[in-house]
Amino acid sequence: MNKAIISFALSLVIGFGLGYLVFGVIMGDSDKQPQVAQTEPTQETSETEGQKEGAKEETATVDANNILNSKGCLGCHAVDSLGLEGGATGPDLSKAFTDVEGKHGKSIDEFLKEPTSAVMSSVIGGSPLTDEERTQVLDMLKQASEK
Ligand code: HEC
Repeated sequence: MNKAIISFALSLVIGFGLGYLVFGVIMGDSDKQPQVAQTEPTQETSETEGQKEGAKEETATVDANNILNSKGCLGCHAVDSLGLEGGATGPDLSKAFTDVEGKHGKSIDEFLKEPTSAVMSSVIGGSPLTDEERTQVLDMLKQASEK
């Protein structure tokens, strides 16, 4: 009785093991395809970077007078995807528009009104953003996350 159970369990394990092996080979092969495909988006990124440089001159959104600069945000934050260099005290804000909710448990709009982190609390506490400024910040961070 016990033997039967053990050999049943063993053949299960072996069966699964073989299954995984075979699957691994198949998956391993198909893994290569996305890797090839991944080189293309990289090229696209450099294309968008080219467009970005153009956009930088054309639109007022990403020039030196942008809201993040005038509010001093760039003193602590870079926004890589917009080509904005900044301090390294705070995280790069390229993905903040999509990430803040998951990281801080509130929407980025709420975060900018009432930050949960100590540093940002004192930044915003010392100089709150008006509704209009916050909208501009959100616009820029939305753009950044879409690049
Ligand atoms: C004195 C430095 C400093 C300044 C100025 C500053 N920040 Fe921050 N900021 C930080 C730090 C440090 C963090 C990380 C806090 C944490 O994760 O606990 C942060 C976090 C954030 C986050 C959350 C990002 C994430 O991925 O967690 C956002 C959004 C943000 N800041 C926006 C701004 C904006 C907009 C301004 C300008 C109005 C600004 N910050 C000005 C230091 C600063």
